Amino acid sequence: MSDTKIIKLSLIFFMIYLVNSSPPEDPIKCSYDTNFNCTITNTYGAFPDRTICKAAQAVFPTTEEEVISIVANATREKRKMKITTRFSSSIPKLVCLDNGDQDGLLISTKFLNKIIKIDQENMMITVESGVTLRQLISEAGKAGLVLPYTPYWWGLTIGGLIGTGAHGSSLWGLGSSVHDYIVQLRIVTPADAANNYAKVRILENGSPDLNAVRVSLGVLGVVSQVTLKLERVFKRSITFSERDDSNLGEDAATFGRQHEFADFTWYPSQHKVIYRIDDRVSIDTPGNALNDFLGFRPTDQYLLASLRTLEEILESTNNADGKCLDATKTTGILKSLSYGWTNNGTGYPMVGFHDRVQASGTCLDSHEGATCPWDHRVKGLFFHQTTFTISLSKVKGFIEDVQRLVALEPKALCVLDLYNGILMRYVTTSNAYLGKQEDSLDFDITYYRSKDPMSPRLFEDFLEEIEQLAFFKYGALPHWGKNRNVAFIGAINKYKNVDKFLQVKQSYDHFGLFSSEWTDQVLGLKDGLSIVKEGCALEGLCICSKDIHCAPNKGYFCRPGRIYKDARVCTNSSLSTIDIQTRKTISTSM
Ligand SMILES: Cc1cc2nc3c(=O)[nH]c(=O)nc-3n(C[C@H](O)[C@H](O)[C@H](O)COP(=O)(O)OP(=O)(O)OC[C@H]3O[C@@H](n4cnc5c(N)ncnc54)[C@H](O)[C@@H]3O)c2cc1C
Ligand SMILES: *[C@@H]1O[C@H](CO)[C@@H](O)[C@H](O)[C@H]1NC(C)=O
Ligand SMILES: *[C@@H]1O[C@H](CO)[C@@H](O)[C@H](O)[C@H]1NC(C)=O
Ligand SMILES: *[C@@H]1O[C@H](CO)[C@@H](O)[C@H](O)[C@H]1NC(C)=O
Ligand SMILES: *[C@@H]1O[C@H](CO)[C@@H](O)[C@H](O)[C@H]1NC(C)=O
Repeated sequence: MSDTKIIKLSLIFFMIYLVNSSPPEDPIKCSYDTNFNCTITNTYGAFPDRTICKAAQAVFPTTEEEVISIVANATREKRKMKITTRFSSSIPKLVCLDNGDQDGLLISTKFLNKIIKIDQENMMITVESGVTLRQLISEAGKAGLVLPYTPYWWGLTIGGLIGTGAHGSSLWGLGSSVHDYIVQLRIVTPADAANNYAKVRILENGSPDLNAVRVSLGVLGVVSQVTLKLERVFKRSITFSERDDSNLGEDAATFGRQHEFADFTWYPSQHKVIYRIDDRVSIDTPGNALNDFLGFRPTDQYLLASLRTLEEILESTNNADGKCLDATKTTGILKSLSYGWTNNGTGYPMVGFHDRVQASGTCLDSHEGATCPWDHRVKGLFFHQTTFTISLSKVKGFIEDVQRLVALEPKALCVLDLYNGILMRYVTTSNAYLGKQEDSLDFDITYYRSKDPMSPRLFEDFLEEIEQLAFFKYGALPHWGKNRNVAFIGAINKYKNVDKFLQVKQSYDHFGLFSSEWTDQVLGLKDGLSIVKEGCALEGLCICSKDIHCAPNKGYFCRPGRIYKDARVCTNSSLSTIDIQTRKTISTSM
């Protein structure tokens, strides 16, 4: 493919958006005209192991009373249950019942989506758990109130986002995790016959049980309502400042103390970082900025298809130069369009009301013809996500290790820039038993996934080494709602209060009706997180230990990492003779 063609495609992608789009489809599909014989998927249309998840039945309660009745009936009948949401944004199999369960029930919060109360005086909002972040921001905003820190994407529900510990970026206040702003929460759990098989538990901030329920992975029962602490609306002043990445290791530990909403977007192969300088300003500072992030806008399906085709061609021809060229063009265009931020034509700093800039997601809107870029009904973006947090005390070492990898192969990480590089956000220590254990930096790494699970990716060994560096050398914690299986190996042992979590689980859901094989594995109650089979390392289902776990017939063999000797990664063998020499030089020089 010629360079000009690549440039043209990228330009088209970022400059043309059709006004018409279709909303993401419901993740639950049942036998025609019934709520029986169903399947459930996620927003990407694929779980890490690509299983198709089935359920005997799906129910769509509209009130807490209905939830109680549903949980009671299912408990009496000892049916397994899973709680699902309108958009199903998590990657791992959290919403799946066990394969082979003939009787399992999906409880969707799609219609449990009402704002219950906005308390202006005490600055609080009470919502049903299926309310989306978009609804919450919009309704609170009308009352002049805001949630100070949130994830960046509108299409999450309150129940779902607290369920996996979702967050924005801040070290200030109580930090960037929404679950740390819960004032009160109501959860419907199973109960014994004497209690009519279901029970509503009302937990106030300060109750030890709440620290289990804040981040629950859906295994404790159905959160029906959540009350969150808000603030009066304020304004922010935002500048995206491009710098080289030579000081990133140092700055990572300090930048978040200097700016309330700081984050970084890192392009390691380009040695560039976008520092987000983002602070509160006085409410009378002029400006009405809007964040309509380019990656969350409705995007024409033909343009998505050409982008994907280009990426597939560059992958299948091992065209590293093409990837790097596409990378610089893509990031250049994003920069020139201020990533989708506008401020009535004036440049940085962009000053605007918090509720207009804290999150976005116009691709959720409903029309025909365009979709969210990852919509699985069209040929669009399809990717893996490796997302983890590293303690601020260790983050410099990790960043420098990634920089050493780039020095060994400058083109290897160009593959990240088509997904706008590595997003780095601040999170703080939480009381939640499955929440962050220390003040940390979260790394969000998004990269090409082949439609063919047996097909190796360009420079996949580098990404596998980074994944293993993070989780095993630097003790990173996985984002519960993202990642591939490898990320969760041994993860539960990194949480000091996991026993307390399991005690609450035992008392709320004695028979484990809300648990599945996957949640048991993640919680360390069952083996089998690694799925060892032919090609398993290509999809992050295992860490390779034999060549057959990679793709030996396509030249990819299981080898040690380049700088992290304990890593085992799928390496293109025609590179590996040089590598073995490089490794020798490095290990003798160390
Ligand atoms: C485009 C996109 C952008 C994202 N951006 C961010 C970001 O900026 N920051 C971030 O941290 N994460 C982000 N995520 C990840 C996301 O926050 C998590 O995956 C989140 O858990 C998804 O929420 P959901 O409402 O889709 O819930 P689901 O994915 O459907 O469910 C998540 C878990 O919560 C449980 N659950 C749901 N509702 C309830 C309930 N009422 N009671 C009890 N349990 C319940 C489910 O059973 C499941 O275990 C993003 C995801 C996408 C697709
Ligand atoms: C669901 O599937 C089963 C077995 O395939 C079948 O017997 C039953 O009639 C189906 N139910 C509905 C409502 O489609
Ligand atoms: C629960 O079971 C009772 C008794 O069988 C029934 O009347 C009721 O409709 C059921 N509730 C739901 C939500 O299915
Ligand atoms: C936006 O810019 C136009 C023209 O420059 C100006 O007339 C208008 O008042 C501005 N609006 C705001 C909200 O600043
Ligand atoms: C392996 O790398 C070499 C050198 O870059 C390249 O020519 C070859 O196509 C690659 N093979 C595979 C299977 O990716």
